[in-house]
Amino acid sequence: MKIAVIGTGYVGLVTGTCLSETGNDVICVDINEDKIKKMQNGEVPIYEPGLDLLFHRNIEQGRLHFTTNLAEAIKHAQIIFMALPTPPGGDGAADLSYILGAANDISKLITDYKIIINKSTVPVGTADKVKAVFEANTNIEVDVVSNPEFLREGVAVEDFMKPDRVVIGTKSEKAKKLLTELYEPYVRQGNPILFMDERSSELTKYAANSFLATKITFMNEVANLCELVDADVDAVRRGIGSDERIGKRFLFPGIGYGGSCFPKDVQALVKAADENEYDFQILKSVMEVNERQKTILVDKILKYYKGDIKGKHFTLWGLAFKPETDDIREAPALYIIDALVAHGATLTVFDPEGMGNVKALIGDKVIYSPDQYAALAGADALLIATEWSLFRNPDFEKIDSILKNKVIFDGRNLYNLDKMIDMGYYYNSIGRKL
Ligand code: UGA
Repeated sequence: MKIAVIGTGYVGLVTGTCLSETGNDVICVDINEDKIKKMQNGEVPIYEPGLDLLFHRNIEQGRLHFTTNLAEAIKHAQIIFMALPTPPGGDGAADLSYILGAANDISKLITDYKIIINKSTVPVGTADKVKAVFEANTNIEVDVVSNPEFLREGVAVEDFMKPDRVVIGTKSEKAKKLLTELYEPYVRQGNPILFMDERSSELTKYAANSFLATKITFMNEVANLCELVDADVDAVRRGIGSDERIGKRFLFPGIGYGGSCFPKDVQALVKAADENEYDFQILKSVMEVNERQKTILVDKILKYYKGDIKGKHFTLWGLAFKPETDDIREAPALYIIDALVAHGATLTVFDPEGMGNVKALIGDKVIYSPDQYAALAGADALLIATEWSLFRNPDFEKIDSILKNKVIFDGRNLYNLDKMIDMGYYYNSIGRKL
């Protein structure tokens, strides 16, 4: 099938690349000339495991193209995906100007039937707004479809190639038929393609992310309570996760959820509820608790040093909001850095992928180390904010020989508690005994 993907961010680029992998002919469009030039020269602009291979293979085989020329892409494609940003506007509601702007441009270019697909996370009613743009500008038949993505950064390629489900919001039989053909290769193991109306599809995305954010937040609160009653959150997690109704996944406590999706989507759903005069209380609490959780490591540090960390030096392992990504949007590490520096401490940081982005954002507020062990020099304690695999089994002898004191504050519960105690560490983690 002939496809255009407008917007080459995480979602657009993964979508375009993975759609070309099953034999479709895909043109990806972006207004950023620099980025397009780089991709035309074979450079993948983001770090996403597995993307490189598919990207180069499909370019070489002539199925994946990049352009800044929207008209060329629209002429080429029957199915047009919009994967554009929907940042929170000043009032917390998603800003639709990129989507409606693109719809306006597309509507002026089309000369035959097209399926226009919203891949971005958009408020309920957006498909209707996009439809209205087309109705105002053209008589050509189009179907506007909601098809939210459920990709996780870091495993986005795997998630796209083998989705748990594909959600498609449309009432058009023609669109249903074409999109079933498009997605069938991805659900061969029997996972469902779920058809529904546009509004339910749009809400499904917000409900999914908000539910997951709630699940994590619930566990963060259980963890906080565990510390007070001398229980172990790992045990409680296993105890409840074995109940299939609860499930084992997404129960890991930590230093708050971050990233470009959960914080924005929870906020947008609360806002949408407010606009409809519904007080979405549970989500308001989720937002509040998550704010508090982001600096819980700092509270622990302040308590340990009796409120005075002026002149202390810390090493921070992990900056990205989660492993296997260079994405630092809403990363808890940034809040930790801010708070510690505000209290007069200094930091050396290390992250396998996120340091460039942090440097671009906060410059020389911290010292950057190219090596996880060299980063420990002169530090009073080690702090951990991201569960990268390479932090899971470190050389503790090496850590001992460089770190000034055997003190670790771990926001991701990477190490076995008994082992740490045996090795003589002061090891403060989340929801576990000290
Ligand atoms: C999330 C959803 O999982 C995707 O399904 C969705 O498509 C995506 O948002 C989106 O809307 O685009 P992502 O933001 O990449 O994906 O990250 P997740 O892996 O879901 O993690 C989100 C946050 O929750 C991270 O800060 C992570 O550290 C935290 N988390 C996750 C926990 O604290 N505990 C857990 O057990 C799991």
